[in-house]
Amino acid sequence: MKNASPQPMINKPQLRKIFSGVLLMLCLGNSLGRAEEQHPHHPIPLDQYIALLEDPKRDEWQKPDAVIQALHLKEGQVVADIGAGSGYFTLRLARMVGQKGQVFAVDVDEGMLSYLRERLAKEKIQNVQVMQVPAHDPLLIDSSLDLAFICDTYHHIEDREVYLRKLHKALKPNGRLVIVDFYKKDGIPVGPPLSMRLSEETVKQELQTAGMNITEKLTFLPYQYILIAQPTTGGPGASPVTQP
Ligand SMILES: C[S@@+](CC[C@H](N)C(=O)[O-])C[C@H]1O[C@@H](n2cnc3c(N)ncnc32)[C@H](O)[C@@H]1O
Repeated sequence: MKNASPQPMINKPQLRKIFSGVLLMLCLGNSLGRAEEQHPHHPIPLDQYIALLEDPKRDEWQKPDAVIQALHLKEGQVVADIGAGSGYFTLRLARMVGQKGQVFAVDVDEGMLSYLRERLAKEKIQNVQVMQVPAHDPLLIDSSLDLAFICDTYHHIEDREVYLRKLHKALKPNGRLVIVDFYKKDGIPVGPPLSMRLSEETVKQELQTAGMNITEKLTFLPYQYILIAQPTTGGPGASPVTQP
């Protein structure tokens, strides 16, 4: 006689359903970070992800207008918003560089980008080119950018050394790379979980290895560092001139 194996109380499809429910509840706990932990590119249904990114409460700590002002962009400049998402910063960047300027809004997620396209059409903003890109390459033209802006996205990038070298090439000789991301320390109520964050020191080191010189560090955001870097004249591997 065969041994009858005990039947599980919950079968696999039921388990999956329960897991998805718990996942959704975690994401809806108004924590974008929790959501990012569960799935890096599409953590929760798109409309909920967009609502989190565009939540007016985010403005209190993200201070988007102050961030954009601090970049001292000029009319006519060319900017890339890497990991543009719903366009929270893209629209502000587009207004700063004006009709003669250009913003490349790049993202891996077509859902985000189609939302952004509609938003740009509604707001009649014509100086933004929306680009869906692969995760390893922003597909930007060499020496084309005055500024590459990466907010809350750098920690998503996998091979950052290769990626930074591509961004280095895409910058004009005096171009700037701006990275805004969360401090890797306890007690920050928003942002990704500690395990996904990159310390400021790590990012500085990575920039330096990619041939970038950190020219400015802004500290007015409560939960995030803002690092501004420029290509060193010697190219990748050259030693930095200054290191704030
Ligand atoms: C947390 S959201 C930030 C969106 C926007 N920068 C903001 O501050 O509101 C991260 C975005 O980066 C995108 N992303 C993730 N990895 C990426 C990659 N390797 N290249 C381009 N975009 C990426 C995601 O699809 C998502 O839209």
